Amino acid sequence: MILITSDLKLADAIHSNYLLIPVVTRFGVRLGFGDKTVKAVCAEHGVDVEFFTTILNVFSHESYFPQERLLRFDVMQLVGYLEKTHCYYRTVLIPMLDKNMEAFVESAAKPSEPEVLLLKNFFAQYKNELKAHLKREEAVTFPYITELVKKENTQQLHEKYSMKIFESEHENVDEKLYDLKNILIKYLQGDYDEGVRNTLIFNIFRLEKDLKDHTRIENKILTPIVKKMERTLFGSNA
Ligand SMILES: [Fe+2]
Ligand SMILES: [Fe+2]
Repeated sequence: MILITSDLKLADAIHSNYLLIPVVTRFGVRLGFGDKTVKAVCAEHGVDVEFFTTILNVFSHESYFPQERLLRFDVMQLVGYLEKTHCYYRTVLIPMLDKNMEAFVESAAKPSEPEVLLLKNFFAQYKNELKAHLKREEAVTFPYITELVKKENTQQLHEKYSMKIFESEHENVDEKLYDLKNILIKYLQGDYDEGVRNTLIFNIFRLEKDLKDHTRIENKILTPIVKKMERTLFGSNA
């Protein structure tokens, strides 16, 4: 996969890593951009080109994580990106996995046997946990940050919530997906449609990869930026 720069054609970036398509969509960029460079597309959509290329590279390269540069980005820009990612999980990836799971269960020669029920229950429980995780951030963490930026009612808010609380309760929501994949890869031995099973596994890998990068950005970028704001507003004990 190539390193994405502002002078690269956006189409070439996509050809180099097709998993960037939904990431680009999160920035409000629709496909059909011809031979335009990353810089030109960003200018057209009012997107910060440095933020855009950094996020695309973080997503494409496991070892690419320019923490110093990321820490300089505007926190609301970051929150906007994280919110759009949540929306993508809720409206695209989770419903897609629902359909894949349904098709897989329907393809089973014995859909009501214990191993199929175990898989269905595990998935249902995971989805509830993931949705609760997203909701908590949207209902508490992101609004808290927005208020800090606006500098409104900050002391009152800070008495009830802080990034210390966020850190203490923030879980890696991708971890259970490893177990879910293992049920499908290692243990289910019944008679299933293998094509449908493979599609389900591929899409779990996609969600897992996206969630890992998402969590990394929340822990390593969002948290230090907001903690710095807290120290400025509330002193060194914040
Ligand atoms: Fe999140
Ligand atoms: Fe999170």
